[in-house]
Amino acid sequence: MNVSLVSRRSLLALCFTVFATGALAQAGTTEYKPEVGQDGKDVVWVPTPDTMVEKMLDMAKVTAKDFVMDLGSGDGRTVIAAAKRGARALGIEYNPDMVELSKRNAAKEGVTDKAQFVKADLFETDFSKATVITMFLLPDINLKLRPKILNLRPGTRIVSNSFTMAEWKADQTENVKENCTTYCTALLWIVPAKVDGSWQVGGGELKLKQEFQMLTGTLTAGGSETAIKGSMRGDRITFTAGAATYTGRVNGASIVDGTVKGGSAAQWTATKK
Ligand SMILES: C[S@@+](CC[C@H](N)C(=O)[O-])C[C@H]1O[C@@H](n2cnc3c(N)ncnc32)[C@H](O)[C@@H]1O
Repeated sequence: MNVSLVSRRSLLALCFTVFATGALAQAGTTEYKPEVGQDGKDVVWVPTPDTMVEKMLDMAKVTAKDFVMDLGSGDGRTVIAAAKRGARALGIEYNPDMVELSKRNAAKEGVTDKAQFVKADLFETDFSKATVITMFLLPDINLKLRPKILNLRPGTRIVSNSFTMAEWKADQTENVKENCTTYCTALLWIVPAKVDGSWQVGGGELKLKQEFQMLTGTLTAGGSETAIKGSMRGDRITFTAGAATYTGRVNGASIVDGTVKGGSAAQWTATKK
């Protein structure tokens, strides 16, 4: 047999072995498969069913104008779904393997320009730039995050898979039945503007007591005091005083664009005392 042919064949075989080993090693990394229930830093990984992801993004009315942050982003599905709606989206995930998996998933879905992922602890993350926050964590984690969430810009939408924020009742709750067997309740909160305190309304006074988005208090005008009951939806205020319904928009220390239905005046404004 021709010696040079043998050595050429050996070389080819060697090249193939090196190539195959490299390819397998690469396949080893790309084939990282997370297991439902696997440990996470503060909460295990359980993926939100896709129908729930869509419901959560629907409830938050996510559009291309939004910046969505998923706290504990798992395999990246919520971030990727938000990016497909044109939003900029960022996943915060503590597990580096999940971060890499999410990046690969985003690449497969063609949304790497909009969907980004960082390996970080959600408790040490600044999410003040988000217009929408999604999460599937635990009730006690939601509660720990609550003060930070309440300090976000009024109107920021928060959507949680299944878990509540204790006394801060959700503004909207929806149950998903299609292709969802567990963890099928989506809850939405809209960060309310802070209005607690006294406001000058014309020659009178509006005293507001605020508990999350709920309002009680009194409206004093022309020497008579009327109890009020109302609510906030982001920067929008609505309350009733007797037969009159007041609506307006909170802009810092002012309430503007105020309208009244069923009252003696048609418009109103207020200034924080
Ligand atoms: C229940 S899974 C939800 C995953 C994803 N958001 C979804 O809805 O499919 C929670 C995720 O949070 C991650 N996680 C746990 N503690 C974390 C922390 N302190 N910071 C960032 N991520 C965390 C876990 O690794 C896991 O992927």
